[in-house]
Amino acid sequence: MTKSYEVIDHTYDVVVVGAGGAGLRATLGLAEAGLKTACISKVFPTRSHTVAAQGGVSASLGNMGEDDWRWHMYDTVKGSDWLGDQDAIEYMVREAVPAILELEHYGMPFSRTEDGKIYQRPFGGMTTHFGEGIAQRTCAAADRTGHAMLHTLYQQSLRQHAEFYIEYFALDLIMEDGVCRGVMAWNLDDGTIHRFRAQMVIMATGGYGRIYFSCTGAHTQTGDGNAMVLRAGLPLQDMEFVQFHPTGIYGAGCLITEGARGEGGYLTNSEGERFMERYAPSAKDLASRDVVSRAMTMEIRDGRGVGAQKDHIHLHLEHLAPELLHQRLPGISESARIFAGVDVTKEPIPVLPTCHYNMGGIPALYSGEAVTLKDGNPDSVVPGLMAIGEAACVSVHGANRLGSNSLLDLVVFGRSAARRCAEILTPGEKQAPLQTGAGDEALDRFDRLRHADGEVPTSALREEMQRAMQDHAAVFRTGESLAEGAEKLKAAWAKRGDVKVSDRTLIWNSDLVETLELDNLMFQAKVTMESAGNRLESRGAHAREDYPDRDDVNWMKHTLVWCGENGEVRFGDRPVHLNTLTNEVQTFPPKARVY
Ligand code: FUM
Repeated sequence: MTKSYEVIDHTYDVVVVGAGGAGLRATLGLAEAGLKTACISKVFPTRSHTVAAQGGVSASLGNMGEDDWRWHMYDTVKGSDWLGDQDAIEYMVREAVPAILELEHYGMPFSRTEDGKIYQRPFGGMTTHFGEGIAQRTCAAADRTGHAMLHTLYQQSLRQHAEFYIEYFALDLIMEDGVCRGVMAWNLDDGTIHRFRAQMVIMATGGYGRIYFSCTGAHTQTGDGNAMVLRAGLPLQDMEFVQFHPTGIYGAGCLITEGARGEGGYLTNSEGERFMERYAPSAKDLASRDVVSRAMTMEIRDGRGVGAQKDHIHLHLEHLAPELLHQRLPGISESARIFAGVDVTKEPIPVLPTCHYNMGGIPALYSGEAVTLKDGNPDSVVPGLMAIGEAACVSVHGANRLGSNSLLDLVVFGRSAARRCAEILTPGEKQAPLQTGAGDEALDRFDRLRHADGEVPTSALREEMQRAMQDHAAVFRTGESLAEGAEKLKAAWAKRGDVKVSDRTLIWNSDLVETLELDNLMFQAKVTMESAGNRLESRGAHAREDYPDRDDVNWMKHTLVWCGENGEVRFGDRPVHLNTLTNEVQTFPPKARVY
C-alpha cells in the first residue's frame, strides 16, 4: 500500500517540528549557530497558537519596581505546588533576563514606560520578597504579546536563512533502535509525502487543549508531537495537570487575559460580591489560576453564578479609565465586543474557567533533551529527540503554571535547545542511511485513515471525546467521575476503527487533517483521564474532591504514562528534581498552602 506514495527525501542537521514561540526561537538559534535547519509547520508560522498569547512574558527586569530572580523562582516553585523541577526553574528564571533583553534587541515591539523601558504589569502569583508584595514582572506588548513575539522571531529566522516547510503536517517520528532519526510529513499544498532525516528532531508542537469542549487554544492545538511520541513507544509526563484559565469568555471560550486583572479588573458573583477576597485574602483576584478557577466554580456551584442560568461570573473593567483600556487592553476590549457583545467601558464581561494550558507533555531536561525511564534511569536521554514549549514537560510548571511563565518557557527553552544542539552536533556531519522501509509505518497509518470508510463522522467522534473530557476531567474531579469518563473514552476509542473520511484526495484534504488530529487527540484524552484517575491527591490544577489534600509523602513525583495502539495504558514515575541548579539559592521545601 505504502508503495503507492512517492516519498521525497531531505537531510538536515536539525528538524524543528512546530513554528510557535518555542519552535521559532529554536530555529533562529540553530540557524545562527550554522546548523542546517528545517522548520516544519502545519500552519503559517505567524498563525501558530503563540500568536494568541495576550498578557505577557515574565522576567525579573525590575523596570517598574524592585525584583529578583530568586523571588521569581520562589513564586514558580510555589505556583507549581512543589511538583516543578527546581534546577530547571532556576535555569528558566535566571535566563529570563538575558532572553527577554535579546528579544528586545531582535526588535520585539514591547510597550514602554515613560522612561523608555519595557513595560511590566502584575500577574497572578508573581510576588516580591517571597510572597510579601506584588511584583510587576510581566513584560507586555499591550495585550498582544504573543503576536509581537512570533512576528519578531519569524522575521529574525528568515534573516538567518532558516528553511521553512510551511503547511506540512508531521505524521510520525522515524525511530531506529530507540534513536530518533527523523520525521515523516505530508505537504498539504501539493499532496506530496516527505521523509526528513536529521541528527536531531525537536518537537515544538504545542499543547493539546482541544481534547476539551471549551478551550482558549486554537483549533490546531491537537498535540500532534505528544501523540507521535506515544506511538514511538515513549512516555508522556504529568498529563493529569491541565490548567483552566479563570477568564474564558462565556460561551465562546476566547481568552480574556489575566493582564485585565493585573491592570485592576476584578471578579464578582451574582450578589455583586468580590468573592476572591474570601478565598485568597492577600492575593485576591491575582491568586494563581488554579485557586481562582476553583473559587469561581465553587461560587457557581453554590448558586451565586450570574446570568439566567447562574452559570458564569462577571469580570469588571468598566471602572478603569478608557484610555488605559485603549492603550493596555485593546485586544480584549475588541474580543469582548465581538464574542460577548460587551462594551468593556460600560459593562462586565461574562467569563468562565476554560481549558487553557497543558502542564504535561514530553519529559525533557532544561537542555531540551527528551528523556525516558530506562534501565532504572529516570533521566535517560532519548538520542536524537528534543522537546520544548507546551509540548514538553521540563517540568518548570509542575502541577500549575503561573501566567506569563509560558511565553518565557518558549523563549528560554527554544534558546537552550539550540544552544545544546550547537554543543553536541557538528554542522553537516554525515548521517547513516535510514533503514529500509523507514517511515512505512507512518504511511500505513496515513493511508488507513485516508481510506477510512466507517460509519462515524470525525466531528461526531471528536465531540464525544471532548464532552467526556469536559464533564469528567475539568476543574474538580472525583474517582467515580473519572472512572465514568474513562468508560466513555473507551467507548469512543472503540469507534476509532469505524471513523468515516469522505475526501480521499491529497491536496488540502481538511477532512483527513482533522481525522489525523482527532486520532492524536484521542491518545492524549485517554492518558489525561487515566493519569487523573491514578493520582490520589490534590495538587495544583489537579483537584480531587475525594482526595482534597496534597500528599507529599506518596505523590511528590512525576507521572509517566505510556499508551499503546490498542489503548492499553501503563504508568511509571520520575522523581521531582528538588535540587537547584547552583548553590546561589536554597531549595524551597514544601509549604502549606496559604494564599
Ligand atoms: O492571561 C493571559 O494573558 C495568559 C497568559 C498565559 O497563559 O501565560
